[in-house]
Amino acid sequence: MKILFVSPEVSPFARTGGLGEVVGSLPIALRKMGVDARIICPLHRCCKDLPLNNISGEISFPSKHSKIRSKIALFDKSESSVPVYFLINHELFDREGIYSGENTDYPDNWLRSFVLSHAATEIESLVDWKPDVLHSHDWMAAPTSAYLNAKLGKFTKKPDQGSVLTIHNLEHQGSFSKHEFDLSGLPSKYWGMNGFEHHTSLNLLKGGIQHAHKLTTVSPTYAAEIKTQEFGHGLEKSLQYRGADLIGILNGINEEIWNPMTDPNIHAPIDPKNPFAGKKACKDVLLEEFKLNLNEQIPLFGVVSRLYHQKGLDLLLEIMPQLLKDQEIGCVVLGSGNEKQEKDFLKLAKQFPKALGVQIGFDDKLARRIFAGSDFFLMPSRFEPCGLAQQYAMRYGSIPIARKTGGLSDTIIQSNGKNKPANGYLFKDAKPDSLLQSINRATIDWQEPDAFLKIRKQAMNTPCSWDLAALKFKEVYKWSLKEARITDTGSRLFSN
Ligand code: GLC
Repeated sequence: MKILFVSPEVSPFARTGGLGEVVGSLPIALRKMGVDARIICPLHRCCKDLPLNNISGEISFPSKHSKIRSKIALFDKSESSVPVYFLINHELFDREGIYSGENTDYPDNWLRSFVLSHAATEIESLVDWKPDVLHSHDWMAAPTSAYLNAKLGKFTKKPDQGSVLTIHNLEHQGSFSKHEFDLSGLPSKYWGMNGFEHHTSLNLLKGGIQHAHKLTTVSPTYAAEIKTQEFGHGLEKSLQYRGADLIGILNGINEEIWNPMTDPNIHAPIDPKNPFAGKKACKDVLLEEFKLNLNEQIPLFGVVSRLYHQKGLDLLLEIMPQLLKDQEIGCVVLGSGNEKQEKDFLKLAKQFPKALGVQIGFDDKLARRIFAGSDFFLMPSRFEPCGLAQQYAMRYGSIPIARKTGGLSDTIIQSNGKNKPANGYLFKDAKPDSLLQSINRATIDWQEPDAFLKIRKQAMNTPCSWDLAALKFKEVYKWSLKEARITDTGSRLFSN
């Protein structure tokens, strides 16, 4: 089976978050299972120095107004040997950021999305390889399925390509105006409530949801949540309508890259069978690095996060002054985003320099040192489609304390003092008090070294590989092909 991932990000070449990591690791697991998975991603400025093989020929975007032509170059030397086709269009993609420059989204993101999505459906015109299924990710690649339906609709023969759309975060939908839809080159009947229109605006993710043969999202709980008004970000009706074709598949992580026994970035290996010595060595070094001075009896909490409303760290900021004042916890924070939250954390760190260390920004190596050196990991997200950080933290022996939502509920088994296989702590309400209760429960367990060791070992040994997810995706791909054949190129949507 031949699968083309269509994505604006792919780790390690271009990434802003979890989406890039998933696209950088799931295809590896699929290839191990005999699936010929490849990737198409724009050639962003950050990828320009890669050794690439230019492929001759061009793909022309079907725009009425201007000539937009893109080329393709192949990168086939990654360690994992997943071929990546980079879409070259310097005018559209040779930019400082992936979605935005200095804090503002690029105004032509709609065009960048259309050009990437359209090119994915034409790749076989340039390379000697035709995907059976186009697997697109998030709003920027979402129109792929519509371009595919438009292309398949031109032929009378049975459709032979399927499409799958994975939603990593429903909050980001790619909202623009009708005028921009008119420049997409897509059939005008794809406008409207059954297509790309959402409250009179153009909504790229919605168009993808309506057009893809099958839909997935990144955890079973999130798949159920997004069909509700609370989590649906206005698209719950479309997701209910497509409910039978939507499945939640929990993300895995790349266990080779995230291995506390071999990670060269951490101070000492941490053995999942006997983590005590390794964790202690990593904690000591982390405390030193942030010049913290904690009594041995005090647990160290870690935060590695973007500082946005979604992540709920304002809840932590509310209770932190008291916790630090009472000398109940130490904490190390690595993150960036909301300016006010950045300032609030820095201010607190000045006030409690011996107990709180804050680094603004993103730094993969420091993130690893925090996973390895902290005892607990805080993730009070208001919503969390899957969450990868809690999985990295668990693997490195840092016990997650997280809100019971999305993928956090699917990866963390709550400790309540009785159930044995607990690997973390979950709280229900997005309220500072609920978070505080969980932190208190965790610090009580921490005082019982034997009980705590059990939780830590359980966390470190929680299955997190991509194998199970890859098997499920294989099924979804077959399912999408079957669907493509029976629904006859979108006639499900457009009877005229
Ligand atoms: C998004 C989600 C996150 C998920 C990641 C990868 O960043 O917010 O929860 O883990 O995508 O799917």
